[in-house]
Amino acid sequence: EKGNYRHFMQKEIFEQPIVVAQTLQSYVRPFEGKVALPDFDFDLSTVNRVTIVACGTSFYAGMVAKYWFEQFARVPVDIDVASEFRYRQPVLEPGGLALFISQSGETADTLAALRHAREEGQTIAVVVNVPTSSMAREADLLLPTHAGPEIGVASTKAFTCQLSVLAALAANLARAKGRLTEDEEREIVEHLREAPEAMNQALNHDEDIAGMAHLVAPARDVLYLGRGPDYPMALEGALKLKEISYIHAEGYAAGEMKHGPIALIDDLVPVIVLAPSGPLFEKTVSNMQEVRARGGKIILISDAKGLAEAGEGCVATIEMPEVHPLIAPLVYAVPVQLLAYHVAVAKGTDVDQPRNLAKSVTVE
Ligand code: F6R
Repeated sequence: EKGNYRHFMQKEIFEQPIVVAQTLQSYVRPFEGKVALPDFDFDLSTVNRVTIVACGTSFYAGMVAKYWFEQFARVPVDIDVASEFRYRQPVLEPGGLALFISQSGETADTLAALRHAREEGQTIAVVVNVPTSSMAREADLLLPTHAGPEIGVASTKAFTCQLSVLAALAANLARAKGRLTEDEEREIVEHLREAPEAMNQALNHDEDIAGMAHLVAPARDVLYLGRGPDYPMALEGALKLKEISYIHAEGYAAGEMKHGPIALIDDLVPVIVLAPSGPLFEKTVSNMQEVRARGGKIILISDAKGLAEAGEGCVATIEMPEVHPLIAPLVYAVPVQLLAYHVAVAKGTDVDQPRNLAKSVTVE
């Protein structure tokens, strides 16, 4: 079943352009230049607040979506991990939309949070990969991902499919809120359609990234930095590395470095920086300079423009295609997944069945 791949995780990383394209088929009408959602009896224009709840990697997809919902639809968003949300007595106004994100659709904390939100009068939207799951059955608005079965315990293709659905949902919400002209919507559809090809280009760096594994494998601690939607991507990169290579890794908002974590930096700490060129780029570059001044070894993931400006002095660089901010997280997911994968292979860990982890967490 693994075909020519050594691990399911590797196969699933490489499947991403195809499953993302498959997923997007349900959410865009390319000929009309429109984004679309499955039919349901609900008027998105009435949404005044979105509450997003999930666990682990699915939670990080939700964090990316928060940036999108706020930026494109100007809707306030609250987000929390399910294990906190369900016990913290969140204040939920009647008529709100509560959005749950899950690969399995069975995660105990997320399911309990969903039921709590229903009791509090929320409309329940669910982004889920298993169509027969409990969460799928309990949704008012079912937003399926079409990643196919995910076998590797560390989530990869389900995550990028979640991001695809959430990007389309952000655009739908923006349209419903009167924040999107027809031309802007057509443009977004075009950019979404470019995502699978851009992910293919990112996958072409597989061998380069394998060659960088020796920079990370001996480390005791690794930091991942990003701003904006690349901040949750930094968290996701760190989680992937922890899960399968057992190296301690942390993701930080680049601007938070000087509020503490910079104390960790010395010449033994690799720092992975995710920074597409754009309005936040200069800010991240100055955070990189602070790291470099303390001997930190930087691996910079950026596009040609970003690398030309800031690639010098990095121990390694990974060039991503230049893409619209709405699809950048889908593309930047690929190099962080590949890096975690190759570091784990270099360390000889059990990539598909990491110690202490289960694919579906059905107990709290
Ligand atoms: C990370 C990972 C976990 C899951 C989390 C939620 O690679 O796989 O963090 O993302 O357990 O699972 P689902 O999405 O099934 O609710």
